Parts: sequence; structure tokens; C-alpha cells
Amino acid sequence: MQRRTLLPTLAGLSLALTAPWSHAQSDTVKIGVVVPMTGQSASTGRQIDAAVKLWMAQSGGKAGGKKVEILLRDDTGVADVTRRLVQELIVNDKVVAVAGFGLTPLALAAAPLATQSKTPMVVMAAATSSITEASPYIVRTSFTLPQAAVGMGEWAPKNGIKKVVSLVTDYGPGNDAEKYFVNQFLLNGGQVLEKLRTPLRSPDFAPVLQKVRDAKPDALFVFLPSGQGAQFMKQFGERGLDKAGIRLIATGDVTDDDQLNDMGDVALGVVTTHHYSAAHPSAMNKKFVADFQAMHKFRPNFMGVGGYDGLRLIFKGLDATKGQGGEALLNAMKGQLFESPRGQILIDAQTRDIVQDVHTRKVERKDGQLWNVEFDVQKAVKDPGKLK
Ligand code: PHB
Repeated sequence: MQRRTLLPTLAGLSLALTAPWSHAQSDTVKIGVVVPMTGQSASTGRQIDAAVKLWMAQSGGKAGGKKVEILLRDDTGVADVTRRLVQELIVNDKVVAVAGFGLTPLALAAAPLATQSKTPMVVMAAATSSITEASPYIVRTSFTLPQAAVGMGEWAPKNGIKKVVSLVTDYGPGNDAEKYFVNQFLLNGGQVLEKLRTPLRSPDFAPVLQKVRDAKPDALFVFLPSGQGAQFMKQFGERGLDKAGIRLIATGDVTDDDQLNDMGDVALGVVTTHHYSAAHPSAMNKKFVADFQAMHKFRPNFMGVGGYDGLRLIFKGLDATKGQGGEALLNAMKGQLFESPRGQILIDAQTRDIVQDVHTRKVERKDGQLWNVEFDVQKAVKDPGKLK
């Protein structure tokens, strides 16, 4: 079934690519941004769209001497829709790059189209380690779960946490988070009592939280994709796990800056490891957060910063190629090093994945608001998923 729909698609794509690329002569270059603007992951799309608008305003919307036009598309978080939209953007709109990709299955659905058409594909959100291996045209400006989770496997056993239960969403990034946290935790002498999973769609945390209560660990380690943190935190509190003395440790996806401020006291003291906090104290980040909030009236999160840096990466690439796309643009994005609101980032020329600092943070209340306050750092972390 899938095969039948894909074959004519790819044939059409190759045909379209034998025609001269109209954007090569034009004064305008188009960039397709495909994200979930509706559905369960809508906050990811809203963040990336907001960050793209901020970058467009700050940059004047010009790169490589050409006007840049953004074509934003809502894939509703459904892989078949992502595939169709990416195909239309490449074949009909002749975009120089496709970007966005709010969930791992959506990025994986688009990857063969990037390869087939030689279109650079900038993954701004999805974070399973293996995504960059799905196409040589992929570069990533988000993060990887091994990169985020391994630091917690280091921190927890050194801070009084000897027994844990882990809880992750049952798909790519959850597998990565569980594996890299657990391995590092065991290496440091910790004990894992149970490994629990919840489904990606409409998870119910009540049954797993009951299991956690019964297992009585020192801490619960959690990865959930952006957008699920607030609901989880509410149930964690309602079920009294905090009162039962079970600490919560997680990747920063759970204390997502998009929702953190509404989580209330139950979030206080939660320790996470991640690559971006809106409270990161650099001058560049302070300006980024202030400008973002002035324009959109909400706080940027790690998805927002992935979108902002991703668009900046494409712009810098287009500057180098004078607006040319394809292989030239891909090569111009490889090896780029620049300061981001999160700190210095590098696009590793070999893996096309991001190298960045990972911070250990604690949720604190400051000036009446909740923030992920950074207190320790691992510098320039390469994706451990690729250090095989
Ligand atoms: C993913 O599906 O790759 C993903 C989504 C949201 C996150 C992390 C990973 O917060």
C-alpha cells in the first residue's frame, strides 16, 4: 500500500528535477517549513513558527543577495501528511531547503524525498540519534536524546540517587533516552528497578505512576516529548509521588519552557539535563528571550531555539552559495560554528549533527516565575549515539 503510493511520487520527483531549477535564476528563494501546528505537538510548530518570524524580522529576510520567502505548512503531526507536503514543496514550489520536523516519524518520512531530490533538510526539532543517518541531505539543529540523557546518568548516582525507575515514551527518542541514561547510571553503580513506557498518542500516566509508587525508587527518570510535560507533572503531583519522597529527574523536554511556568510548585526542584534553557545567562540569550517575548507574548523553548538556529544556518549557507540550493547549500551548512542563544554550536561536518553544551539545571522560582536554572555544564557534547 505504502509502496504503491510512494513509487509514482518518486518518479514524479525525478522528472521534475530534470527541468531547470527556476529558483536558480529568480530573485527570491523559498524555504519550506513543515511542522505540526495542530494536534498533540502543536506547541512545537507554534514555537518554530514564532522563531522563524523573529529571525526573518531580525535578518531583514534576505540571504545570498536574494529575498527569502518562508512557506509554512502544518503536517498535523501525521507522517503521511509530512511526506505529501514535503513533496509538494520540492516539486511544485521548488524550495531550496525543507525544514522543521516536529517528531521523529515525521523526519523519517521526509528523509527519502530529500535524498531523491538532493534537497537539504534541516531537522529543527526531532531528536532520535539515527535521524541524520536516514539521508545524507539532513543536518540537525535540535539535539539528540543520547546527548541530553547521558549527563543525567552521570549526575544522579553522584547526588544520592541509587535506585531508579525509568519512564519514557515508546518510540525512537524514548528508546535513546532510556538506553543512554540507564547505561551511564549502571556504569556509575546505580540500580534500575523497572523500565516503563507510555504510548506517543494520548498517554495515560496514572497506571505507570502507580507502578512507580509501588516500586519505591529514590527517583523516577523521565523522557516525554515536548507538549506532554505539564499533564505528566500534574498527575505526578496528584498521585502524591513528590510527597512520597520520590525525586523526579528528566531530560529538559519534561520541564519544557513553553509549559513550565504553568506547572506550579510540583515542578520546583526537578533536576534535568538539556541543551537549552530560557534562563541561560548569556547576553545573546537575554536579548533573544526579550525579543521573542516582545514579538509573541510567550517564552521560547528548546524547539524555538532549534528553529531560530536552523533558519540562521540556512541563511548563512545561502550567503556562502549566493542563493544556490542543492549540494552546494548542504556543503555550506556543514562545519558551521556559531554562537546561538543556547551557547556555541557546531554542525559536525562528518555526521551533519549538532555539537553543543549540555547543562544540568534545577527548576527554581525567580521573580515570581519558574525557570530551569543551569548549575553545571558538559562542554561541546557530540551525539554519543554516533560514537560507536
Ligand atoms: C522526537 O519525536 O524526535 C522528539 C519530539 C519532542 C521532543 C524530543 C524528541 O521533545
